Amino acid sequence: MSKNIAVLGSQWGDEGKGKIVDLLSEKVAAVVRFQGGHNAGHTLVVNGEVTKLHLIPSSILRKEGLCLIGNGVVVSAAALITEMNELITRGIPVRERLKISNACVLILPYHAALDKYREIAKGKQAIGTTGRGIGPAYEDKIARRAIRTCDLLSEERLTLKLKEVLTYYNFLFEKFYQAEPLSFDTILAETLEHAKILRDLITDIPAILYELKQKHQSILFEGAQGTLLDVDHGTYPFVTSSNTTAGGIATGSGFGPRYLDYILGITKAYTTRVGGGPFPTELNDRTGEYLSQKGCEVGTTTGRKRRCGWFDAVLVKRAVELNSLSGLCITKLDVLDGLETLKICSAYHFHNQLITIPPCNAEDLALCQPVYEELPGWKTSTFGLKHYKQLPENAKKYLARLSQLVGAPIAIISTGPDREETIILNNPFD
Ligand code: GDP
Ligand code: IMO
Ligand code: MG
Repeated sequence: MSKNIAVLGSQWGDEGKGKIVDLLSEKVAAVVRFQGGHNAGHTLVVNGEVTKLHLIPSSILRKEGLCLIGNGVVVSAAALITEMNELITRGIPVRERLKISNACVLILPYHAALDKYREIAKGKQAIGTTGRGIGPAYEDKIARRAIRTCDLLSEERLTLKLKEVLTYYNFLFEKFYQAEPLSFDTILAETLEHAKILRDLITDIPAILYELKQKHQSILFEGAQGTLLDVDHGTYPFVTSSNTTAGGIATGSGFGPRYLDYILGITKAYTTRVGGGPFPTELNDRTGEYLSQKGCEVGTTTGRKRRCGWFDAVLVKRAVELNSLSGLCITKLDVLDGLETLKICSAYHFHNQLITIPPCNAEDLALCQPVYEELPGWKTSTFGLKHYKQLPENAKKYLARLSQLVGAPIAIISTGPDREETIILNNPFD
């Protein structure tokens, strides 16, 4: 039977979405990215070989199936072409399977420049963006001045739009940031070169999705970032500029919300975050360092060290509710091997009250003190286990309590980075 499923991050990103999309995409007709851009870094490990993807859907190592970039994605043509070429050099057919929506907003050099100037100007208050120009590109979309992938199909249209928008940006750079203006001729020439390479791949994605739906073919939607980075529901302003939650799927791809059958929340067995912003369960001690080292918690896109902490059930419960998660995939369970005691945050102390719904603003979340439940750890290794019955009893108890606190069943458990290092309790496609 065909099914349409979504794979989303339920924390602050880097939960292991790429691994699970690769795992689940063997028999799907299409995998679709619907938001974010090359700020994402999704890691796949197949037979020990590591592949890091930023824009191309994480099903590209499979033999078949379309890899679609939906209208909600902000596309740097330069980054996309680099990523395509890296895969093509490895002998992976990309052009045959990749299609890009004609309604994607383009990230152009002035977006990345503005992203950096803004972060520098904010100083200690910086968001800690990936510097890829994501926020400024989404701003252009909302301000209705964006240059989109369909504009790459007409040199005349592209030239006119670029002229107008660059005049605006160069005014901002020179007058507000006292920075050098960017060259219109250079950007136009580069973009026209990119247009030549990408034009055959630019198409109407909603039409493809609707046709697959009519033919009863399965589609998988691949989220980027995570629920707590959602521009509306995340820890604003320390968020990305798109809707990373399930609501973004329909708007970012053109696939009707009634057609989704299952939403899988990828959830790390502990918590990490890259960049600034509140993080109630953060550990600035030896345990935090242990998780960081053992979990190799270094950003896939920027190489920055990820902040680490205990599992926060208050925040993941909120993610379960916001996304209507059908089930969870718990990743990196093996990283907890060997810890004497594990802690799960089940509530916060906030202004002398006990709360289980996170406050709306970042300043208040930063004041929340986690209330922990302590559970015994396990001594034996779970690394690479493939069957639930092989797990130590205390690992089973930890998972059961975590699932109970957040209010969602566990469908998959990941015990290592490789595709095969996985325990499947309930395959979303069954
Ligand atoms: P994504 O952005 O959600 O796709 O996640 P990233 O790829 O940025 O980060 C997840 C990291 O954890 C990658 O290096 C993965 O190879 C690795 N990983 C995924 N699942 C597991 C797991 O179960 N155990 C371990 N040890 N590593 C994992
Ligand atoms: P994946 O898909 C983790 C974070 C940045 C910063 C904030 C805003 O690999 O899970 P942006 O450049 O988007 O304006 O930065 O969001 N961020 C991520 N953190 N994983 C990601 O993607 C992220 N993409 C953006 O670190 O705090
Ligand atoms: Mg990542």
